[in-house]
Amino acid sequence: MIFDMEKPKGRESHNLLIGLVAPRPIALVTSMNEDGQLNAAPFSSYNYLCTDPPIIGMGVTNRTPRGPVPKDTARNIRRTGEFVVNVVTEDLMEKMNVCATDFPAEVNELEMAAFTTAPSEVVKVPRIAEAHAALECREFTTMEIGRSRIILGRVVSIFVEDRFIDPAGPYVRAEELHAIGRMNGLGAYVRTRDAFLMMPRMTYEEWKAGKR
Ligand SMILES: Cc1cc2nc3c(=O)[nH]c(=O)nc-3n(C[C@H](O)[C@H](O)[C@H](O)COP(=O)(O)O)c2cc1C
Repeated sequence: MIFDMEKPKGRESHNLLIGLVAPRPIALVTSMNEDGQLNAAPFSSYNYLCTDPPIIGMGVTNRTPRGPVPKDTARNIRRTGEFVVNVVTEDLMEKMNVCATDFPAEVNELEMAAFTTAPSEVVKVPRIAEAHAALECREFTTMEIGRSRIILGRVVSIFVEDRFIDPAGPYVRAEELHAIGRMNGLGAYVRTRDAFLMMPRMTYEEWKAGKR
Protein backbone atom coordinates (compact mmCIF):
# COMPACT_ATOMS: atom_id res chain seq x y z
CA MET A 1 0.00 0.00 0.00
CA ILE A 2 1.09 3.57 -0.58
CA PHE A 3 0.14 6.23 1.96
CA ASP A 4 0.19 9.91 0.97
CA MET A 5 1.90 11.57 3.93
CA GLU A 6 1.14 15.03 2.52
CA LYS A 7 -2.54 14.29 3.21
CA PRO A 8 -2.58 11.72 6.02
CA LYS A 9 -5.94 10.57 7.35
CA GLY A 10 -6.64 10.63 11.10
CA ARG A 11 -3.80 9.02 13.03
CA GLU A 12 -2.30 7.43 9.88
CA SER A 13 1.11 9.12 10.04
CA HIS A 14 1.42 8.42 13.78
CA ASN A 15 0.43 4.76 13.42
CA LEU A 16 2.68 4.11 10.41
CA LEU A 17 5.74 5.91 11.73
CA ILE A 18 5.71 4.33 15.17
CA GLY A 19 5.22 0.90 13.61
CA LEU A 20 8.04 1.33 11.10
CA VAL A 21 10.61 3.25 13.12
CA ALA A 22 10.87 0.44 15.62
CA PRO A 23 12.03 -0.83 18.02
CA ARG A 24 12.64 2.40 19.87
CA PRO A 25 14.27 2.95 23.24
CA ILE A 26 12.02 4.35 25.95
CA ALA A 27 12.90 7.39 28.03
CA LEU A 28 11.02 7.43 31.32
CA VAL A 29 11.43 11.15 31.98
CA THR A 30 11.33 12.67 35.43
CA SER A 31 10.82 16.43 35.54
CA MET A 32 9.73 19.04 38.06
CA ASN A 33 7.69 22.24 37.92
CA GLU A 34 8.79 25.51 39.55
CA ASP A 35 7.14 24.47 42.84
CA GLY A 36 9.05 21.20 43.00
CA GLN A 37 6.07 19.03 41.97
CA LEU A 38 7.47 15.85 40.41
CA ASN A 39 6.28 14.27 37.17
CA ALA A 40 7.17 11.09 35.29
CA ALA A 41 6.14 9.95 31.79
CA PRO A 42 7.52 7.63 29.08
CA PHE A 43 8.53 8.82 25.60
CA SER A 44 9.70 6.59 22.78
CA SER A 45 10.23 9.23 20.11
CA TYR A 46 13.62 9.33 21.76
CA ASN A 47 17.24 8.69 20.91
CA TYR A 48 20.70 10.07 21.37
CA LEU A 49 21.56 12.41 18.50
CA CYS A 50 25.26 13.05 18.99
CA THR A 51 27.92 12.26 21.54
CA ASP A 52 30.22 15.29 21.29
CA PRO A 53 28.54 17.13 22.86
CA PRO A 54 26.24 14.46 24.31
CA ILE A 55 22.74 15.40 23.11
CA ILE A 56 19.53 13.41 23.29
CA GLY A 57 16.26 14.33 21.59
CA MET A 58 12.61 13.48 22.14
CA GLY A 59 9.29 14.47 20.63
CA VAL A 60 6.41 15.39 22.91
CA THR A 61 3.01 15.85 21.27
CA ASN A 62 0.70 18.51 22.68
CA ARG A 63 -2.65 17.58 24.14
CA THR A 64 -5.59 19.18 22.34
CA PRO A 65 -8.53 19.42 24.74
CA ARG A 66 -9.47 23.01 23.72
CA GLY A 67 -6.47 24.21 21.76
CA PRO A 68 -2.92 22.90 22.14
CA VAL A 69 -1.71 22.31 25.69
CA PRO A 70 1.82 21.00 26.27
CA LYS A 71 2.17 17.75 28.19
CA ASP A 72 3.42 18.22 31.76
CA THR A 73 6.88 16.94 30.82
CA ALA A 74 7.35 19.49 28.00
CA ARG A 75 5.96 22.31 30.13
CA ASN A 76 8.20 21.45 33.11
CA ILE A 77 11.33 21.23 30.96
CA ARG A 78 10.58 24.64 29.38
CA ARG A 79 10.08 26.17 32.82
CA THR A 80 12.87 24.62 34.87
CA GLY A 81 15.30 23.54 32.12
CA GLU A 82 16.14 20.15 33.63
CA PHE A 83 15.05 16.52 33.37
CA VAL A 84 16.26 12.97 33.86
CA VAL A 85 15.88 10.12 31.35
CA ASN A 86 15.49 6.88 33.31
CA VAL A 87 16.29 3.81 31.19
CA VAL A 88 13.34 1.41 30.95
CA THR A 89 14.24 -2.22 31.57
CA GLU A 90 11.98 -5.31 31.71
CA ASP A 91 11.55 -5.12 35.47
CA LEU A 92 10.23 -1.52 35.24
CA MET A 93 7.80 -2.11 32.35
CA GLU A 94 4.54 -2.24 34.25
CA LYS A 95 5.33 0.75 36.42
CA MET A 96 6.44 2.69 33.34
CA ASN A 97 3.02 2.00 31.83
CA VAL A 98 1.28 3.40 34.92
CA CYS A 99 3.28 6.63 34.40
CA ALA A 100 1.79 6.92 30.86
CA THR A 101 -1.73 7.27 32.29
CA ASP A 102 -3.27 10.67 31.62
CA PHE A 103 -3.34 11.76 35.29
CA PRO A 104 -4.21 15.39 36.17
CA ALA A 105 -1.13 17.67 36.41
CA GLU A 106 -1.19 17.70 40.24
CA VAL A 107 -0.86 13.90 40.47
CA ASN A 108 2.65 12.52 40.95
CA GLU A 109 2.89 9.52 38.60
CA LEU A 110 5.85 8.19 40.59
CA GLU A 111 3.63 7.69 43.63
CA MET A 112 0.88 6.11 41.52
CA ALA A 113 3.42 3.63 40.10
CA ALA A 114 5.03 3.01 43.52
CA PHE A 115 8.40 4.20 42.24
CA THR A 116 10.81 5.85 44.66
CA THR A 117 13.39 8.52 43.84
CA ALA A 118 17.09 9.05 44.45
CA PRO A 119 18.94 12.37 44.26
CA SER A 120 20.67 13.17 40.97
CA GLU A 121 24.33 14.18 40.85
CA VAL A 122 24.00 17.51 39.03
CA VAL A 123 20.38 18.45 38.33
CA LYS A 124 17.67 19.14 40.92
CA VAL A 125 15.24 16.66 39.36
CA PRO A 126 15.70 13.26 41.04
CA ARG A 127 16.15 10.00 39.15
CA ILE A 128 14.01 6.93 39.71
CA ALA A 129 15.75 4.81 42.35
CA GLU A 130 14.58 1.54 40.77
CA ALA A 131 16.08 2.47 37.35
CA HIS A 132 19.45 0.82 36.73
CA ALA A 133 20.67 3.72 34.61
CA ALA A 134 19.73 7.37 34.15
CA LEU A 135 20.84 10.35 32.05
CA GLU A 136 20.70 13.73 33.75
CA CYS A 137 19.91 16.44 31.20
CA ARG A 138 19.67 20.20 30.82
CA GLU A 139 17.38 21.57 28.12
CA PHE A 140 19.53 22.56 25.13
CA THR A 141 16.59 23.84 23.08
CA THR A 142 12.91 23.17 22.47
CA MET A 143 11.50 23.53 18.98
CA GLU A 144 7.77 23.90 18.50
CA ILE A 145 6.83 22.12 15.29
CA GLY A 146 3.13 21.82 14.50
CA ARG A 147 1.41 19.96 17.35
CA SER A 148 4.68 18.81 18.91
CA ARG A 149 7.67 19.96 20.82
CA ILE A 150 11.05 18.54 19.94
CA ILE A 151 13.21 18.77 23.01
CA LEU A 152 16.98 18.49 22.83
CA GLY A 153 18.74 17.81 26.10
CA ARG A 154 22.41 18.03 26.88
CA VAL A 155 23.46 15.08 29.04
CA VAL A 156 25.37 16.45 32.02
CA SER A 157 25.77 13.29 34.10
CA ILE A 158 25.11 9.57 33.66
CA PHE A 159 24.34 7.05 36.39
CA VAL A 160 24.76 3.32 35.73
CA GLU A 161 24.74 0.63 38.42
CA ASP A 162 28.30 -0.74 38.68
CA ARG A 163 27.27 -4.28 37.68
CA PHE A 164 26.18 -3.03 34.25
CA ILE A 165 29.52 -1.42 33.42
CA ASP A 166 32.47 -3.17 31.79
CA PRO A 167 35.28 -0.88 32.96
CA ALA A 168 37.49 -1.86 29.98
CA GLY A 169 35.67 0.57 27.67
CA PRO A 170 33.91 1.67 29.68
CA TYR A 171 31.08 -0.18 27.92
CA VAL A 172 27.54 -0.75 29.08
CA ARG A 173 26.81 -4.47 29.59
CA ALA A 174 23.74 -3.99 27.40
CA GLU A 175 23.16 -7.73 27.10
CA GLU A 176 22.61 -7.85 30.86
CA LEU A 177 20.67 -4.61 31.30
CA HIS A 178 17.54 -6.02 29.58
CA ALA A 179 16.24 -2.72 28.26
CA ILE A 180 12.95 -2.93 26.39
CA GLY A 181 11.96 -1.32 23.10
CA ARG A 182 8.61 -0.04 21.89
CA MET A 183 7.15 -1.34 18.63
CA ASN A 184 3.76 -0.05 17.41
CA GLY A 185 0.97 1.81 19.20
CA LEU A 186 -0.92 -1.36 20.13
CA GLY A 187 1.00 -1.89 23.35
CA ALA A 188 3.74 -4.01 21.72
CA TYR A 189 7.26 -4.09 23.13
CA VAL A 190 10.39 -6.12 22.48
CA ARG A 191 12.86 -7.59 24.90
CA THR A 192 16.55 -7.18 24.19
CA ARG A 193 17.29 -10.36 26.17
CA ASP A 194 18.88 -13.14 24.01
CA ALA A 195 18.56 -10.97 20.91
CA PHE A 196 22.18 -9.97 20.43
CA LEU A 197 23.70 -10.58 17.00
CA MET A 198 27.38 -9.71 17.07
CA MET A 199 28.82 -8.06 13.95
CA PRO A 200 31.81 -5.79 14.61
CA ARG A 201 32.49 -3.15 11.94
CA MET A 202 35.33 -3.75 9.51
CA THR A 203 38.17 -1.39 8.77
CA TYR A 204 38.86 -0.65 5.10
CA GLU A 205 42.16 -2.59 5.46
CA GLU A 206 40.23 -5.66 6.68
CA TRP A 207 37.82 -5.35 3.73
CA LYS A 208 40.72 -5.16 1.25
CA ALA A 209 42.31 -8.20 2.91
CA GLY A 210 39.14 -10.16 2.12
CA LYS A 211 37.56 -10.24 5.55
CA ARG A 212 33.75 -10.69 5.35
C1 LIG B 1 5.94 3.39 25.83
C2 LIG B 1 5.29 4.73 25.62
C3 LIG B 1 5.90 5.67 24.80
C4 LIG B 1 5.34 6.93 24.62
N1 LIG B 1 5.97 7.81 23.79
C5 LIG B 1 5.46 9.06 23.62
C6 LIG B 1 6.13 10.00 22.78
O1 LIG B 1 7.16 9.72 22.20
N2 LIG B 1 5.59 11.25 22.67
C7 LIG B 1 4.44 11.62 23.33
O2 LIG B 1 4.00 12.77 23.22
N3 LIG B 1 3.79 10.73 24.14
C8 LIG B 1 4.28 9.48 24.30
N4 LIG B 1 3.64 8.58 25.13
C9 LIG B 1 2.45 9.04 25.88
C10 LIG B 1 2.85 9.82 27.14
O3 LIG B 1 3.64 9.02 28.00
C11 LIG B 1 1.57 10.23 27.90
O4 LIG B 1 0.85 11.16 27.09
C12 LIG B 1 1.81 10.83 29.27
O5 LIG B 1 0.57 10.90 29.94
C13 LIG B 1 2.42 12.23 29.24
O6 LIG B 1 2.55 12.63 30.58
P1 LIG B 1 2.84 14.10 31.07
O7 LIG B 1 1.65 14.99 30.71
O8 LIG B 1 2.95 13.91 32.56
O9 LIG B 1 4.10 14.58 30.45
C14 LIG B 1 4.14 7.29 25.28
C15 LIG B 1 3.49 6.33 26.08
C16 LIG B 1 4.06 5.06 26.24
C17 LIG B 1 3.37 4.05 27.11
